[in-house]
Amino acid sequence: MLQKVMRSAIIDAPIERVWAVLRDFNSHDQWHSAIAASHIEGGERSDQVGCVRSFTLKDGNRIREQLLTLSDTEHKSTYCIVEATLPLQRYVATVTLSRVTDGNRTFWHWASSFATPPGMEQELRDTVAQGVYETGFEDLRRYLRGGADRQAPGRPSPQDAMPGALPVPGRRIALARYGDADQLYPQAFEVPAPGPGELRIAQRAIGINFIDVYLRRGWIPSMLPVSSAAPGVLGMEAAGGVLDVGPGVSGFLPGDRVAYLGPVPGAYCSVRCVPADQVVRLPVEIEDDVAAALLLKGITADYLLHDLGRIGRGTRLLVHAAAGGVGLLVCAWASRLGAVVVGTVSSEEKARIAREHGCEHVIVTRDYRFADAVQRAAGGADVVIDGLGDAAREENIAALARRGHWISLGQASGPLAALPPDALVGKSLSFSRPVVFDYVATQAQLAERAARVWRALADGAIRLPPIERFALDSAARAHAKLEARATIGALVLVP
Ligand SMILES: NC(=O)c1ccc[n+]([C@@H]2O[C@H](COP(=O)([O-])OP(=O)(O)OC[C@H]3O[C@@H](n4cnc5c(N)ncnc54)[C@H](OP(=O)(O)O)[C@@H]3O)[C@@H](O)[C@H]2O)c1
Repeated sequence: MLQKVMRSAIIDAPIERVWAVLRDFNSHDQWHSAIAASHIEGGERSDQVGCVRSFTLKDGNRIREQLLTLSDTEHKSTYCIVEATLPLQRYVATVTLSRVTDGNRTFWHWASSFATPPGMEQELRDTVAQGVYETGFEDLRRYLRGGADRQAPGRPSPQDAMPGALPVPGRRIALARYGDADQLYPQAFEVPAPGPGELRIAQRAIGINFIDVYLRRGWIPSMLPVSSAAPGVLGMEAAGGVLDVGPGVSGFLPGDRVAYLGPVPGAYCSVRCVPADQVVRLPVEIEDDVAAALLLKGITADYLLHDLGRIGRGTRLLVHAAAGGVGLLVCAWASRLGAVVVGTVSSEEKARIAREHGCEHVIVTRDYRFADAVQRAAGGADVVIDGLGDAAREENIAALARRGHWISLGQASGPLAALPPDALVGKSLSFSRPVVFDYVATQAQLAERAARVWRALADGAIRLPPIERFALDSAARAHAKLEARATIGALVLVP
């Protein structure tokens, strides 16, 4: 008769973290105290269905097991014993993980069936249930907490640098000459192992921001030098999973779902090493593409409204490109704060979306004429959030109310010509030229602001903007569309 053993446990770690360990069919000698040593036969990959792991138990028994199924979407794998010095016959086991919905925890179900020689049923059931499964739960918990003191020689713990970690193949969008979108071209490259303080991230969604266009055009060469010998790579933010961690990094493990944002371009690629202090772990409810669409833009909206603009009830706020990536978030959040939101957009369709996201007065203009309409709608703007730049310069000054604050966020229409102080004196205006990176200069600031964005999304202060996805190789097409003023909401590249 077939014996059945089932055990389950809650592991205090996100499902991605637990699965990153368990999906590796050869990881058990790192974390399970019953295993002395293990290897995959024939040099196959340890997540390849059909591969065989050959291992020795600490009590001297030897077992060969074959991986039968592996599903990353279901977080489930099945394996069987093909040969063993233990009298476990026709042993087939299944590991299934599911998300515990009240936090970052994982439900692990481990079940098997097998036959035994007569009289050994109880003994072998106990061996499997306690010696393998219960012990395994405890050992994995300890391993994930970082106490991998039973680590096999030469195998990395999740806290350590990968000794001798190898470069991995990647794909990136290169830029050898500044210019139009067609200067962007895909290229294969090798991603080195993470250096000290770095994480190597398998990227699943990359945020496109208008600054990427400035850099591609060569407007800020100090930020992105390019040449045919050393092409530059655009991109300030992305989301994905940690592949491995460099020396000295704490707080992250392979498999963690993360997003990052930082002042050094290079995100337009499939795999990237980034400083761990520019990285935040993602809550389970924030999907990769949502993170890539919202991290930089949401944090920008947060500092603009709460820190720099001090937007509150009754503040008259003018937002340009109100249906854009930043614009929609600013409209919704400002409206929640009680501001009178006036926005400019270039089409009726954009106007409709901006209204849906809280823009009370929408001005449709393609040629940067809006000051009269702002004065009519609100009697002038206390704060202007201006990503347009030079073409809107005179109109911004005319649209501002007395003691108004002009926040020059960007320059989609062209770099803003130098502004003499006398241009502001007529209405006692003030002028700011902020950059998001100065508002997330430490990991604590980044984590705090990211958490505010996720909270704002959860409590409805911001609505998820439309997200348009492009394959990584189609980055040039995405850029062309963004520059043509033909996008609404956020753009994301998917490697
Ligand atoms: N300083 C910072 O911290 C910071 C951070 C994030 C973003 N930004 C800036 O915020 C602005 C919005 O960024 P985003 O990434 O969310 O982009 P976006 O708003 O989604 O796209 C740019 C929008 O600008 C408008 N636009 C007006 N004239 C344009 C022109 N000549 N060419 C292209 N677009 C033009 C278009 O909207 P309409 O067609 O409706 O006019 C276009 O959709 C940009 O200026 C960006 O540089 C600054």
